[in-house]
Amino acid sequence: MKRKYSAFAALVIGIIASANVTAQQPASFVVKANKPTAEIQPTMWGLFFEDINMGADGGVYAELVKNRSFEFETPMMGWKEAKKGGAEGSVLVHNLGEVDMANRRFARVKVKSATGDYGITNEGFRGMGIKQGNQYNFSVMARQQPGSNIVLNIELVNAKGEKIGETTIKPQGQEWKKYTASFTATATEPKAALNVWTKGQGEIDMDMISLFPKDTWKGRPGGLRADMIQLLADMKPGFLRFPGGCIVEGRTLDERFQWKKTIGPAAERDLIVNRWNTEFKHRLTPDYYQTFGLGFFEYFQVAEDIGAEPLPILNAGMACQFNTGEVVPLDQLGEYIQDALDLIEFANGPATSEWGKKRAEMGHPEPFNMKYLGVGNEQWGEQYIERFKEFEKVLKAKHPEITLVTTTGPFPEGAEFEYLDKTLRAMDAELIDEHYYRPPQWFRDNATRYDSYDRNGPKIFAGEYAAQSVAIASPDNKNNWETALSEAAFMTGLERNADVVVMASYAPLFAHAEGWQWTPDMIWVDNLRAHGTPNYYVQKLFSTNKGSQVVPMLHQNEAVTGQNGLYASAVKDNETGEIILKMVNTTDKVQNSETVVEGVKKLASKAKVTVMKSDKLDAVNTLENPINISPVEQSLNVKGNKVNLPLAPYSVTVVRVKAS
Ligand code: AHR
Repeated sequence: MKRKYSAFAALVIGIIASANVTAQQPASFVVKANKPTAEIQPTMWGLFFEDINMGADGGVYAELVKNRSFEFETPMMGWKEAKKGGAEGSVLVHNLGEVDMANRRFARVKVKSATGDYGITNEGFRGMGIKQGNQYNFSVMARQQPGSNIVLNIELVNAKGEKIGETTIKPQGQEWKKYTASFTATATEPKAALNVWTKGQGEIDMDMISLFPKDTWKGRPGGLRADMIQLLADMKPGFLRFPGGCIVEGRTLDERFQWKKTIGPAAERDLIVNRWNTEFKHRLTPDYYQTFGLGFFEYFQVAEDIGAEPLPILNAGMACQFNTGEVVPLDQLGEYIQDALDLIEFANGPATSEWGKKRAEMGHPEPFNMKYLGVGNEQWGEQYIERFKEFEKVLKAKHPEITLVTTTGPFPEGAEFEYLDKTLRAMDAELIDEHYYRPPQWFRDNATRYDSYDRNGPKIFAGEYAAQSVAIASPDNKNNWETALSEAAFMTGLERNADVVVMASYAPLFAHAEGWQWTPDMIWVDNLRAHGTPNYYVQKLFSTNKGSQVVPMLHQNEAVTGQNGLYASAVKDNETGEIILKMVNTTDKVQNSETVVEGVKKLASKAKVTVMKSDKLDAVNTLENPINISPVEQSLNVKGNKVNLPLAPYSVTVVRVKAS
């Protein structure tokens, strides 16, 4: 379905249509339900996850203790000496110095006085979010020094220092052993701290000091925050892209994401500084590390949980070009390509294969059935093409079943984009990842972006996008209604072009209200709460009303791409037999709409209508008012094959009606 829609035509239609509005004439649409133009891929609307904004550590990874293994560059970051009642003691961080060991450091606490209490306190990630009545699971690796018999008294305290939970651990002997204990919190507190008190005299060694809530996602010990994953599951996403983002690339190649270091026992995963730690001078986050408690196994697992296709993105032998832009010499790319081959085996190989065995040992003998693999995040230049070709040669020869995702860099236009787009098309690329962080107006203007794309060329993955209310990466950007409304307008264009665009994901996903670096983000959290932005609800509306086939929805024989500020698209859901209309009114006026559905015998007499609206473009959702702008459902009477309804000012409306 191709349209030619000139600025002049837009102006004429705009003038006529606004005349219509003034005269209260309805905007008339025709849906051709028996003329599908494209199949909608099950992957169409998905998720982009990156550990940015304390999205993983301090966010969805439910560990409450920061720097649990003393491996941060500043080993006592997050920890303080604690004493009361005149107690004396010392804390020394020891380093075993074994080069290949992920977890080399531990803390030795020495108690020097017979009176009072001595120990260490952990501040958590901007405090610890604790819920009254919930169970908390504490664990520690510990050993006594000769002649010592120290008991550990574990205590959770609120911001005033009052006790809200406690338990006791009695480490025995001089060998490292893991000790666990559970207790129930007596109060809810967003800013709790954890005290580890020592009772008795002598010295004790401690490592991997950890505290998790019991009520993680699916109750998995050491797992993920259930409230945050539930928000994702509610979207019924088609895919989960992970682990980023620039994080894949690293500021330097040494700091790149290496999936093999993120699997196996949590204590043996090699942490690195998070690249967003110092990226933005205005949002420095020196205590931001990646412990990889949320690692590649967990990404695959959660993708499976929420019914999303896993889509890992691997380093292409290039560090972030916004930072060092280091590249691996072509003749040394073998290690990177091997990582990709091994990942395919880890995800899909039998439990008897080398990497499949590691997956099985982690509790998933069945393959994860990975179908997509991205090579590179936002790379550009010939250096990317040269490297991708090496990956492609090997991966396609050994795994033709895996669809490879390539990138056109960070921008949706310009010389670098043109070069990569042209080159990748000439190479018959399978799936091209495009990113757009642009002003809201860009999104409204680009609802026609894919109308002119080659129908027989590579498929498109709109892999990262978000309307920026101020400027790209500005700390003043807001997830306001104008951004979400504009994204909805744009998404009608993605949907209409579902023969070309087969995947789309908003980015970034999570942000901690006190630990973010980048805004806007789809879901905001603090230590106890999580809420969807208007952008989240727009994504969810599209994703949960995906349908199976695109059908034309026309205004005066043209696609609805901004005439009089209206955008619209329509799909059929072959499972439920429904026609689904999506209509976006970006103007400040009510616009009556009349939609005739052709090619069906009749429509049911009632339709389900879901509306998101606000008369304020700068309105937002907040932790205190989390559903300020969110979908509201109502029912609509339908006569014959006509769906007539007013489109509220600044609104997104989805209509579902059964057709026979
Ligand atoms: O989403 C935030 C960042 O934006 C991603 O890491 C990167 O891919 C893009 O530039």
